[in-house]
Amino acid sequence: MFMNFRRIHKCQCVQLLTTGLVLCVVMVCWEQLDHHVVSHMRSYTYRYLVNSYDFINTSFAINPLHLQHGDANSEFAMGRVTNYPYLINHPNKCMRSSDIHGGDRKGKDDVLLLLFVKSSPENFERRQAIRDTWGNESYIRLKLGESVRVVFALGVHPDAQQRPSVQSKLLEEDQANGDLIQQDFVDTFHNLTQKLILQFHWGHLYCAHAHFFMTADDDIFVHVPNLVKYLRDLLATQAGARDLWVGHVHRGAPPNRRKDSKYYVSSELYPWPAYPDYTAGAGYVVSGDVAAKIYQATLFLNSSMYIDDVFMGICANTAGVSPQEHVYFSGEGKAPYHPCIYNHMITSHGHAKDVRSVWRAATDPGLHSLSSGFTSELYCTAVRVMLLCRPYYQNTYPCMAAFT
Ligand SMILES: *[C@@H]1O[C@H](CO)[C@@H](O)[C@H](O)[C@H]1NC(C)=O
Ligand SMILES: *[C@@H]1O[C@H](CO)[C@@H](O)[C@H](O)[C@H]1NC(C)=O
Ligand SMILES: *[C@@H]1O[C@H](CO)[C@@H](O)[C@H](O)[C@H]1NC(C)=O
Ligand SMILES: *[C@@H]1O[C@H](CO)[C@@H](O)[C@H](O)[C@H]1NC(C)=O
Repeated sequence: MFMNFRRIHKCQCVQLLTTGLVLCVVMVCWEQLDHHVVSHMRSYTYRYLVNSYDFINTSFAINPLHLQHGDANSEFAMGRVTNYPYLINHPNKCMRSSDIHGGDRKGKDDVLLLLFVKSSPENFERRQAIRDTWGNESYIRLKLGESVRVVFALGVHPDAQQRPSVQSKLLEEDQANGDLIQQDFVDTFHNLTQKLILQFHWGHLYCAHAHFFMTADDDIFVHVPNLVKYLRDLLATQAGARDLWVGHVHRGAPPNRRKDSKYYVSSELYPWPAYPDYTAGAGYVVSGDVAAKIYQATLFLNSSMYIDDVFMGICANTAGVSPQEHVYFSGEGKAPYHPCIYNHMITSHGHAKDVRSVWRAATDPGLHSLSSGFTSELYCTAVRVMLLCRPYYQNTYPCMAAFT
């Protein structure tokens, strides 16, 4: 009896202590926890409002009176926002290459994908690595039988002292490769929206016949063979090539109100507690018709929202386009290095240094034999479950991706 009583007593003591400890932890963390939970609940509630109603449309539109008349003046009012002159340009990039060199008749090539890489003037090495690997147009034509155009979107170097020397290096680089598109705005984080506008305007002017448009950061890896296959399959189904905006989707993301953050947005600039849904700016694809709609939206929207992927969300919201999730477009994270991942991956983030080795590994012809057959499918699913279904958040591909 006595022993039993003591044991119970001890157990209760432990229980009491644990409860106390947990309570302490909760109390210490409560403010943060509370803030996090509440802000997410709020933004999720607002998400439905933001995505369903048109108050974004009305409050971001510039000069609605002008637009309603559709007169020549409105053209002028719209143009002011976006017309930085081109410093380097290639208007014929989407034409058939045989026609540019010597032919007297110019034809539009059947371009599957126009791929814009957002780069910065000083990132010479990253651009070269991309040309040597996933951005190699001739590889795509020869090995995959598709016409893809890869161009780099740039502004001018932010430091006025270094600008002339960087600029002459850029001209040299462009002489050799013919793939830089540069406009006369300062290339800074807060001008990324200008870079987005550049892309959609250039696409509209010079490559409107491309079936798909992609935007990518210059530090990501794109598994172009998988991407081309995915897009080709979409084209084969009539409906799939329309109304498409696909990537890693952020749903109901709240604006960052911390003044010390890079992503800080004031409530004057964006008053609501949630952004419209948008895809991570590191890499996403839109179909040609959506690209045309986004272009139209940039003409009447105020471009002061400097976070470019959010601005894209605003444009899409006013155009009535919503993003679709694809499990193999990564978030901020780097994909696990494994053949069973290479078979499916589309984009992976944070490859400024190792693009070449990942490209070699991911496009190794030996991979195909590994992935065919029932047993190897089973093996790969098991491997992917181990790599992707972790108890902590990795921000690469979701656990669900293991089963596709
Ligand atoms: C765009 O929005 C900003 C911030 O809300 C505002 O200061 C600016 O006047 C607007 N510009 C136009 C052209 O409407
Ligand atoms: C691009 O790919 C082609 C065909 O595979 C290859 O011959 C060429 O060397 C590659 N170019 C670069 C810059 O790596
Ligand atoms: C964006 O570029 C324009 C044109 O060069 C420049 O006047 C402006 O200061 C830049 N904005 C930011 C935030 O860097
Ligand atoms: C947004 O506004 C534009 C022009 O005012 C209009 O053409 C468009 O239909 C609106 N979009 C939505 C989703 O209401």
